[in-house]
Amino acid sequence: MGHGRRVMGQGGERMRFSATMVAAGFLLLAACKPEPQPMKTIRHSERVFGTTPEGVEVHLYTLQNLHGMRATITNYGGIVTSLLVPDRTGRPGDIVLGFDSLEGYLRGSPYFGAIVGRYANRIAGARFTLDGHAYRLAANDHGNTLHGGVRGFDKVVWDAIPFADSTRSGLRLHHVSAAGEEGYPGRLDVTVTYEVTDANELRITYHATTDKATVLNLSHHGYFNLAGRGSRSIIGHELLLAAERYTPVDAALIPTGELARVDGTAFDFRTATPIGDRIDADDRQLRYGKGYDHNFVVLGTPGTLRLAARVRDPESGRTMEVLTTEPGIQFYSGNFLDGTLVGKGGATYGHRAGLCLETQHFPDSPHHVNFPTSVLRPGQAFRSETIYRFAAQ
Ligand code: GLA
Repeated sequence: MGHGRRVMGQGGERMRFSATMVAAGFLLLAACKPEPQPMKTIRHSERVFGTTPEGVEVHLYTLQNLHGMRATITNYGGIVTSLLVPDRTGRPGDIVLGFDSLEGYLRGSPYFGAIVGRYANRIAGARFTLDGHAYRLAANDHGNTLHGGVRGFDKVVWDAIPFADSTRSGLRLHHVSAAGEEGYPGRLDVTVTYEVTDANELRITYHATTDKATVLNLSHHGYFNLAGRGSRSIIGHELLLAAERYTPVDAALIPTGELARVDGTAFDFRTATPIGDRIDADDRQLRYGKGYDHNFVVLGTPGTLRLAARVRDPESGRTMEVLTTEPGIQFYSGNFLDGTLVGKGGATYGHRAGLCLETQHFPDSPHHVNFPTSVLRPGQAFRSETIYRFAAQ
């Protein structure tokens, strides 16, 4: 579904204009009465990105608005491969980390720009019990399961349908996760929709249903560097997190179950603070994460769209706001990046070259009754929305 469909932008791309044609056009225009303008449609386009080892051709879809914002997304893993956002002078820069080719992602990616699921972040011991049944999951992180297991939603080819109207351009991605995939129960039907809106937003909506009770946690794993791709570390970015509490972890980055107050700690981002100010503080939690790699409890009512985070790069003037209906947000300061990955345009992604703000249910929720439930049952529909909103000043 959706493969091979060609959706070109509004004319233009393949036309060559000569000076004579332009002159003739002006003469023609002068001779005619002005026609009513057709409604402006935001453009989108599609091209081949590559072929998976299984022989499936995957595509790149470009969504853009009329203000210079452009997202390029592949249906392999639902990965946002580039996100162009203007700086305060209007110059566009690519503010996400990733690779130039599909091979880069296939060789091994720390979830750059991907949709993560069936369960974003970790489930301890790669097992959980639901309705009296014990389920064993694929363990891919020191005996725990991380981001869906060995072949999570970041590594599947999604069916894709692009669409556009006068205010947004979008891509609807659909995947059916078979019962038993990576150990999870139930056949899960998932739709993730990306939209680039007129208000300089990348809007992501998630919808899922199941035929048997399962646990579910869907997120987007974009690595942002608001200065432009990987040019320097994100420690100078100023971060605000709308959170009074976070979920401390053990040495394996599994939540202890505590909802700890941020007051007086390096985790208090209630007023905007440069990320580097306290990242090397003498704090056990920061040692466990090798920096920030923690879930924050977003203020306000889960299910309602509200501000979770705001980041600003003082040099480019770019800001990003994250709004979500999810109960939590994982702030990961790119601590595992070590300069060994060569990304787009030959950029070397060094330590903390990008930051992630992953909206989510809390990690390891199946083992903590005091966390918002991540259980989805037949007859229920999981719905969730996250907006990354950009500005520059
Ligand atoms: C999440 C996790 C991190 C790490 C990254 C990917 O943010 O919390 O510990 O696994 O994904 O490298």
